[in-house]
Amino acid sequence: MYKSTHAVILTFVLTVAASAAAAESGDFERKLAACGACHGEKGDKPLAPDYPILAGQKADYLSAALRHYRDGRRNNPIMGAQVQALQLTEDDIVRLGEYFAQQTGPLATLKN
Ligand code: HEC
Repeated sequence: MYKSTHAVILTFVLTVAASAAAAESGDFERKLAACGACHGEKGDKPLAPDYPILAGQKADYLSAALRHYRDGRRNNPIMGAQVQALQLTEDDIVRLGEYFAQQTGPLATLKN
Protein backbone atom coordinates (compact mmCIF):
# COMPACT_ATOMS: atom_id res chain seq x y z
CA MET A 1 0.00 0.00 0.00
CA TYR A 2 2.70 2.48 1.03
CA LYS A 3 4.91 1.36 -1.82
CA SER A 4 2.31 1.93 -4.50
CA THR A 5 1.39 5.32 -3.04
CA HIS A 6 5.04 6.27 -3.19
CA ALA A 7 5.27 5.11 -6.78
CA VAL A 8 2.27 7.22 -7.73
CA ILE A 9 3.68 10.27 -5.97
CA LEU A 10 7.11 9.74 -7.51
CA THR A 11 5.61 9.38 -10.98
CA PHE A 12 3.62 12.54 -10.44
CA VAL A 13 6.67 14.50 -9.27
CA LEU A 14 8.76 13.30 -12.21
CA THR A 15 6.01 14.17 -14.69
CA VAL A 16 5.66 17.68 -13.29
CA ALA A 17 9.44 18.17 -13.34
CA ALA A 18 9.70 16.91 -16.91
CA SER A 19 6.92 19.12 -18.20
CA ALA A 20 8.38 22.14 -16.40
CA ALA A 21 11.72 21.48 -18.12
CA ALA A 22 9.97 21.06 -21.48
CA ALA A 23 8.04 24.30 -21.02
CA GLU A 24 11.26 26.08 -20.14
CA SER A 25 13.17 24.89 -23.19
CA GLY A 26 10.13 25.59 -25.40
CA ASP A 27 10.10 29.07 -23.99
CA PHE A 28 13.76 29.55 -24.88
CA GLU A 29 13.14 28.27 -28.43
CA ARG A 30 10.29 30.73 -28.81
CA LYS A 31 12.50 33.63 -27.72
CA LEU A 32 15.31 32.48 -30.00
CA ALA A 33 12.90 32.33 -32.95
CA ALA A 34 11.86 35.93 -32.24
CA CYS A 35 15.50 37.08 -32.56
CA GLY A 36 15.77 35.29 -35.88
CA ALA A 37 13.02 37.42 -37.40
CA CYS A 38 15.32 40.46 -37.37
CA HIS A 39 18.85 39.11 -37.05
CA GLY A 40 18.46 35.94 -39.13
CA GLU A 41 17.97 32.47 -37.67
CA LYS A 42 21.68 32.16 -36.90
CA GLY A 43 22.24 35.86 -36.38
CA ASP A 44 24.16 36.08 -39.64
CA LYS A 45 21.52 37.54 -41.96
CA PRO A 46 19.99 40.70 -40.53
CA LEU A 47 16.73 41.92 -42.00
CA ALA A 48 18.01 45.44 -42.65
CA PRO A 49 21.46 46.97 -43.17
CA ASP A 50 21.34 48.78 -39.83
CA TYR A 51 20.43 45.61 -37.90
CA PRO A 52 23.61 44.10 -36.44
CA ILE A 53 25.12 40.73 -37.20
CA LEU A 54 25.23 38.63 -34.03
CA ALA A 55 26.78 35.42 -35.38
CA GLY A 56 30.32 34.95 -34.15
CA GLN A 57 30.31 37.97 -31.84
CA LYS A 58 31.72 37.25 -28.39
CA ALA A 59 29.15 35.78 -26.00
CA ASP A 60 30.04 38.23 -23.23
CA TYR A 61 29.56 41.18 -25.53
CA LEU A 62 26.14 39.95 -26.68
CA SER A 63 24.96 39.23 -23.13
CA ALA A 64 26.23 42.59 -21.91
CA ALA A 65 24.35 44.37 -24.72
CA LEU A 66 21.13 42.52 -23.78
CA ARG A 67 21.54 43.49 -20.13
CA HIS A 68 22.09 47.12 -21.19
CA TYR A 69 18.85 47.13 -23.21
CA ARG A 70 17.05 45.49 -20.29
CA ASP A 71 18.35 48.06 -17.80
CA GLY A 72 17.92 51.02 -20.15
CA ARG A 73 21.65 51.81 -20.23
CA ARG A 74 21.50 51.22 -23.95
CA ASN A 75 18.48 52.83 -25.43
CA ASN A 76 17.07 51.67 -28.73
CA PRO A 77 13.31 51.59 -29.26
CA ILE A 78 13.36 48.49 -31.48
CA MET A 79 15.73 46.30 -29.51
CA GLY A 80 14.69 47.64 -26.10
CA ALA A 81 11.09 46.70 -26.89
CA GLN A 82 12.16 43.15 -27.77
CA VAL A 83 13.94 42.59 -24.50
CA GLN A 84 10.93 43.94 -22.59
CA ALA A 85 8.29 42.03 -24.57
CA LEU A 86 10.12 38.70 -24.40
CA GLN A 87 10.88 39.20 -20.70
CA LEU A 88 14.39 37.83 -21.08
CA THR A 89 15.69 36.25 -17.89
CA GLU A 90 19.36 36.26 -16.88
CA ASP A 91 19.50 32.61 -17.99
CA ASP A 92 18.03 33.50 -21.41
CA ILE A 93 20.56 36.32 -21.78
CA VAL A 94 23.50 34.01 -21.12
CA ARG A 95 22.14 31.27 -23.40
CA LEU A 96 21.31 33.67 -26.24
CA GLY A 97 24.82 35.14 -26.05
CA GLU A 98 26.35 31.67 -26.20
CA TYR A 99 24.09 30.54 -29.04
CA PHE A 100 24.91 33.46 -31.34
CA ALA A 101 28.61 33.40 -30.42
CA GLN A 102 28.77 29.79 -31.64
CA GLN A 103 27.31 30.58 -35.07
CA THR A 104 29.61 31.22 -37.98
CA GLY A 105 29.56 34.64 -39.55
CA PRO A 106 31.90 37.43 -40.57
CA LEU A 107 32.58 38.42 -36.96
CA ALA A 108 33.82 34.92 -36.12
CA THR A 109 36.92 35.45 -38.26
CA LEU A 110 37.98 38.25 -35.90
CA LYS A 111 38.30 35.84 -32.97
CA ASN A 112 41.76 34.80 -31.92
C1 HEC B 1 12.25 43.77 -34.37
C2 HEC B 1 13.62 43.46 -34.75
C3 HEC B 1 14.52 42.84 -33.72
C4 HEC B 1 14.30 41.70 -32.98
C5 HEC B 1 13.07 40.81 -32.98
C6 HEC B 1 15.50 41.47 -32.20
N1 HEC B 1 16.41 42.45 -32.46
FE1 HEC B 1 18.26 42.60 -31.63
N2 HEC B 1 18.55 44.36 -32.58
C7 HEC B 1 17.66 44.95 -33.44
C8 HEC B 1 18.18 46.26 -33.84
C9 HEC B 1 17.51 47.23 -34.79
C10 HEC B 1 19.41 46.42 -33.15
C11 HEC B 1 20.34 47.64 -33.17
C12 HEC B 1 19.94 48.49 -31.99
C13 HEC B 1 20.93 49.54 -31.60
O1 HEC B 1 21.40 50.28 -32.46
O2 HEC B 1 21.24 49.62 -30.38
C14 HEC B 1 19.59 45.20 -32.37
C15 HEC B 1 20.71 44.98 -31.58
C16 HEC B 1 20.96 43.81 -30.90
C17 HEC B 1 22.15 43.54 -30.14
C18 HEC B 1 23.37 44.44 -29.99
C19 HEC B 1 24.39 43.99 -31.01
C20 HEC B 1 25.66 44.78 -31.01
O3 HEC B 1 26.52 44.47 -31.85
O4 HEC B 1 25.85 45.69 -30.20
C21 HEC B 1 22.01 42.29 -29.63
C22 HEC B 1 23.00 41.54 -28.75
C23 HEC B 1 20.72 41.79 -30.05
N3 HEC B 1 20.11 42.74 -30.83
C24 HEC B 1 20.24 40.54 -29.73
C25 HEC B 1 18.93 40.15 -29.99
C26 HEC B 1 18.36 38.95 -29.46
C27 HEC B 1 19.10 37.93 -28.60
C28 HEC B 1 17.06 38.92 -29.86
C29 HEC B 1 16.01 37.92 -29.49
C30 HEC B 1 15.74 37.80 -28.07
C31 HEC B 1 16.85 40.10 -30.69
N4 HEC B 1 18.00 40.81 -30.75
C32 HEC B 1 15.66 40.42 -31.32
C33 HEC B 1 16.47 44.42 -33.90
C34 HEC B 1 15.86 43.30 -33.37
